[in-house]
Amino acid sequence: MFRSLYVKLMVTYSVILIATMLLLGVLLSSFFQDTITENRTQELIREGNALTPYLEYFTYGIYDIWVLEGQFKVIDRFLNVSIWMTDTNGRIYYVYPETDNELWQNHRLTDEILEPVLRGETIKVQGNFGDRFTVPVITVGMPLKNAQGIIGTIFLHSPIQELGTSLKNTYLSIWRASFFSTFLSMLLLYYVSRRISKPLAEMNVISREIASGNFKRRVQIKSKDEVGQVGLNFNAMADALENLELTRKTFVANVSHELRSPLTSMKGYIQGVLDKTIGDEDRDRYLEIALTETERMNRLISGLLDLAQVESGQFSVEKKVYDINEQIRRALIAREESINERNMKIEVVFKEENLFVEADPDRIQQVIINLLDNAIKFNKDGGSLLIETWRYKDKAFIKIKDEGPGIAREEIGHIWTPFYQIDKSRSNKRVGTGLGLSIVKKIIDAHDSSIWVNSKLGEGTAFIFSLKATRK
Ligand SMILES: Nc1ncnc2c1ncn2[C@@H]1O[C@H](COP(=O)(O)OP(=O)(O)OP(=O)(O)O)[C@@H](O)[C@H]1O
Ligand SMILES: [Mg+2]
Repeated sequence: MFRSLYVKLMVTYSVILIATMLLLGVLLSSFFQDTITENRTQELIREGNALTPYLEYFTYGIYDIWVLEGQFKVIDRFLNVSIWMTDTNGRIYYVYPETDNELWQNHRLTDEILEPVLRGETIKVQGNFGDRFTVPVITVGMPLKNAQGIIGTIFLHSPIQELGTSLKNTYLSIWRASFFSTFLSMLLLYYVSRRISKPLAEMNVISREIASGNFKRRVQIKSKDEVGQVGLNFNAMADALENLELTRKTFVANVSHELRSPLTSMKGYIQGVLDKTIGDEDRDRYLEIALTETERMNRLISGLLDLAQVESGQFSVEKKVYDINEQIRRALIAREESINERNMKIEVVFKEENLFVEADPDRIQQVIINLLDNAIKFNKDGGSLLIETWRYKDKAFIKIKDEGPGIAREEIGHIWTPFYQIDKSRSNKRVGTGLGLSIVKKIIDAHDSSIWVNSKLGEGTAFIFSLKATRK
């Protein structure tokens, strides 16, 4: 993973870099070649022009040839020149340096070259000058003039090879610079691609670990760029998965525990009855306890089924418009007996005669029953029970308040968790399963509504939930 990404980046950048350097090298070289050649040509022309007065005096016979040679030597020192002088027919009658005399003396230049010079033009030529030189030269040809007009030509040749060395140095500098910049870029690339690929490689490893059930590791995030963002999200996902896994484990543990304990006690009682360890006089009592346990298990299982259904997402909310006040009234009537048994005072306040809501009546029935049963179960004997409904803007609010022990602030966050029961041992509320409120919460969530708890230890608890209100 790391290798391939790194190599890909490296190859791409290297190709771009080398192509750029090559292009730059070629462009720069040709640019330098052109300027250096042009400069040399201009120098030759300048030197040729500077010779004009000497040449003129020479044609008049005022100067001897050695005066000219003195000038030629000066030029030669800088430009390494060969100089030819011809008559108007193109015949070379003078050659500098003298050592070349034998080679060129009395040679004739072609008309093609001669003609423009004899017309008075200065010509510039590059190359071997018609195979006369073994190395390429820059040639400048100029007319020899005096008062009578053009009486011959002078040609100055300077080898280009010398330019070669300075060009070679230029090439070398360019390549040296390319090499160093390539090296530097490679280092930089190494660093950058490592920064990109390292967290990715890490995520790769960790995701495999997560797949095999280890949720502990997280990616180390150092950058704030896109890769950093991915890492951040990856870690958030790992957190969520870890949480989910934890919830699942505790859920399964709770379910098995909740099922095993009533089964164990039932088994004990039935065994006792059968092998007569439990005497006839106690038999009915124990069988009754066993019956209560079966009822509790029944409730537990239907609770679990409800929860599973709600959680699986198969659970559909079939909304209808109906009067929630009427629904509450019926639920209260069904519980009248248990309320009266414990001498509770009931107070019902419907701010509006009818409060129409848009909700799933069966599901909301479950919510009301769960909340009402809790309020009755946890209320103190003789305590009062307040049920209140009202409408505010487009929402209906339902409040169920008791005078029970209340719920401590730090417990409120937990009561929605399946199987969570406050102080299970002391309250001796084994009749409950701890699933009621978690189902309530899921139903309210599915209605895109909210539920709140208002509670004070020792004073009582109020649950308030909202629903979408409508006019009939
Ligand atoms: N009105 C209340 N007053 C005080 N404590 C409450 C009240 N309602 C709920 N609780 C606390 O929250 C816990 C969870 O409530 P929940 O309704 O989920 O379970 P349960 O009532 O114990 O069992 P079930 O509803 O399944 O019969 C309760 O065990 C209790 O400790
Ligand atoms: Mg309950």
